[in-house]
Amino acid sequence: MLGQTMLGEIHEQPRCLSRLLEREFPRVLGMGGKRPRLIMLAARGTSDNAAHYAKYLFECQNGIPTALAAPSVLGIYEARLDLKDVLIIGISQSGQAADVIAFLEKGEKMGARTLAITNEVDSPLARIAMETIPCHAGREEAVAATKTYTSTLLALLMLSAAFDRDQSLISSIERLPDRIVECLSHEEGIRRKVERFRYLEQCVVLGRGFNLCTALELSLKLRETCYIQAQPFAAPDFLHGPIAVVERGYPVLAIAAEGAVLSSLLEVIGQVKKRGAEAVVFTNSAEIASQGDHSISFGAGLPEVLSPFPAIVAGQVFAQALALIRGIDPDSPRGLCKVTVTR
Ligand code: AGP
Repeated sequence: MLGQTMLGEIHEQPRCLSRLLEREFPRVLGMGGKRPRLIMLAARGTSDNAAHYAKYLFECQNGIPTALAAPSVLGIYEARLDLKDVLIIGISQSGQAADVIAFLEKGEKMGARTLAITNEVDSPLARIAMETIPCHAGREEAVAATKTYTSTLLALLMLSAAFDRDQSLISSIERLPDRIVECLSHEEGIRRKVERFRYLEQCVVLGRGFNLCTALELSLKLRETCYIQAQPFAAPDFLHGPIAVVERGYPVLAIAAEGAVLSSLLEVIGQVKKRGAEAVVFTNSAEIASQGDHSISFGAGLPEVLSPFPAIVAGQVFAQALALIRGIDPDSPRGLCKVTVTR
């Protein structure tokens, strides 16, 4: 049956996260002593979306300046950077991303420490990095990444917890797998809502802060599994011009989790609705759900820093179900391979 591999992997997520916590959390907590001056993240695709989460995490939770690397700077332009006291984190579920590997290899020669986050411990990325956090998600067969994405988010979150050892955060992290089980218990409700979007051709997906990664990742899932031209934006960027695309009935998806950026998301939702948009709000607040023409609920009561986990699980279910009613097999989207190597 179509889409069963992706669906199975979506459902595996609570077990994957539990396994990662059990096997790696104590060791990763011990890695927090070596606090870098700056963190750089190199990654592609879904792994790069996880890197966006890491930026907010390491900066807002730990106060460590964090930048997303452009692999071509070292790999193609052959720039020389002062990377003393810098930690480069290379993220690649397959561990095969050649340009990410080269960034770590060259970065180490320029003085950086290097860390790999990968689902494949026996991979070129894991071999080149000074340290590795394995994701323990088990082989991912569907082309669309699901369980490797949330496992990568968790690996990054564990590292962030290691830098400051905030006990209340550590306890909430340990309860995350149960929260994903709870989120998946709403699966049927999400599946019932996709019919309205059967013929959707284009939309924008808005997020901000910790959930910018969710907007990026949901948009990627909608593109690759449903062939919808879904364009992601940080909510404020959308106001700086792109909002002009909105006319009556234009679909705007917004990730509106409770937390510091919620008011800014609400402001944008209000503005697009004034222009006649059809707003689909992914939210963990019953109050906010009423602001959209449609709403998808996830993970009530979670702190903002943890909300990207249930938010994307709801998004994965939405994309998988939507692909099926469009007659597309989300397990093997047209013309895509599981591993894409760029240089
Ligand atoms: C994910 O749904 C996509 N198929 C794709 O972006 C994927 O994440 C990427 O190609 C994986 O690269 P990696 O193995 O280096 O993480």
